[in-house]
Amino acid sequence: MSDFDYLKSGDIYLDSACQSLRPRPVINALNQYYETHNSCGERVKYNWGVETDRKVEETRKKVLKFLKLKSKDYFVSFTLNTTYGINLILSQLDVEKLGIRKVITSDIEHNSVFLPTISFANNHHLERKVVKRNPDGSLPEDVDYDHALVIVNSICNFDGRRLENIKSLTKTIHKQHGILIIDAAQGMAHDSDLLHKTDADAICFSAHKMYSASLGGIIMKRNLIPFIKTSFVGGGMVDDVKKDDFVLSAGTNPDHAHTLFEPGLQAWGEIVALGAAIDWLNERSKSEKAELYARAERLFNALSSHKKLHVLNRTATPTISFYVDKKETGFDSHVLGAALADEHIMARTGYFCAHYYLGHVKHYPPLVRFSLGYHITDDDIDKIINSIEKL
Ligand SMILES: Cc1ncc(COP(=O)(O)O)c(C=O)c1O
Repeated sequence: MSDFDYLKSGDIYLDSACQSLRPRPVINALNQYYETHNSCGERVKYNWGVETDRKVEETRKKVLKFLKLKSKDYFVSFTLNTTYGINLILSQLDVEKLGIRKVITSDIEHNSVFLPTISFANNHHLERKVVKRNPDGSLPEDVDYDHALVIVNSICNFDGRRLENIKSLTKTIHKQHGILIIDAAQGMAHDSDLLHKTDADAICFSAHKMYSASLGGIIMKRNLIPFIKTSFVGGGMVDDVKKDDFVLSAGTNPDHAHTLFEPGLQAWGEIVALGAAIDWLNERSKSEKAELYARAERLFNALSSHKKLHVLNRTATPTISFYVDKKETGFDSHVLGAALADEHIMARTGYFCAHYYLGHVKHYPPLVRFSLGYHITDDDIDKIINSIEKL
C-alpha cells in the first residue's frame, strides 16, 4: 500500500500487535505539528496554540465517534499507553466509595491487566478471581459479579479471541453493581466494531497499536469522576490553588473532565497524529478489511495444516500464534524466529506478556506470533509460507 511506501522491498513486518506501522498521513500529521504549530495545548493564546487546541479537541471527539460513544456520557484523556491508563485508574479509584468487594479478570490477559489486578487486590485486601474465558473469547456470565471490578481485554493479543458477549456481559456486571474496564489495546485497529456503543465504564487503548504515534488513551464514563481520588496531580488540571488545597477543573467544568488523568504537559503532536490515524482507519474500505482477513486466513490455513506447527488460534485473525516442539523439529520457536529474521520476516517469539496463560496454564514452550496489518500484501503471505516450508 502506498501509505507504507517507505518500507524496504522484501521487509515483512509481522509485529503489528506490538506497534503497528505508521501510514504516511499519520507521519505527516506528526511532522506538521512540529513544523507548523509546535506549541503547548490548553494554555497558550498565540496562534500556534490555538491550532493545537483545535486539533487536540478534534481528536477527543474523533475517539468517541470512532466507538459511537456520546460526549455527554464519556470523556477522553490521553496518557502513555494502555498499561499506564489501567494503572492510573486503578491507583486512584475510590474503592470504599464505589463499594468494590472483589476484582475479576480472565485467564488470557496481558500482563498489563494481570499484574495491576494482582497489585490492586493486594493493596485493598480484596478477593481476586481469574475467570476462564470461553473458547470463543466470551467471558462466562454465570459468575458472581456482585460489586466486582472486572478488567478484561476485548481482543486477546496471542490468538485474537474476541470478547464476543461484551454487550450482555456489561449488563450482567452492571446489574450486580459491578464495574467493567475494557483493555482495548488490541481492539482498536481491526475490530473496533465490537466496542461500538459499549456501556463499559472505562476503555483503555494504545494509539501505537492503531497505526498512530506512541500514545495511550482512557475513555471513561463521566459518572465515575466523583469516584477518582486524584493523587497524580500537577499543571493544567486546577481551577484554583491555595496554600494547602486545590480545586480540580475536572470536577467543576464538564469540558475539562479529561484533565483528571492529564497532569502536566501532554504529547500534543502524538494526540494530533491520533486524529489523523482515526481518519485513516475510517477511510479503510470494507474490501480492504476483508482483504486483510483473507490474508490472515490464508496464512492461518497454511500454518494449521503444517504437521510440525502447533497453532493456538481456533479461527483466523490478524494475530496468529504457534509453536514448534523441539522434540519434533530439533529447534525451538526462538531459533525459528531468528531464522525468519534472516529471511527479513519480522515476527515475535516468546510469551508476549501473557506468561500466566501460555506458560503456567498451558505449559507451552515459547511461541512465534505473526501479527498482520494493512501493509501486508498477498506476495508477503506467499513469501512467509515459502520461508516456513523451507525452514
Ligand atoms: C491485550 C493487550 N493489553 C495491553 C497491552 C499493553 O499495551 P501497552 O504496552 O501499549 O501499554 C498489550 C500490548 O501488547 C496488549 O496486547
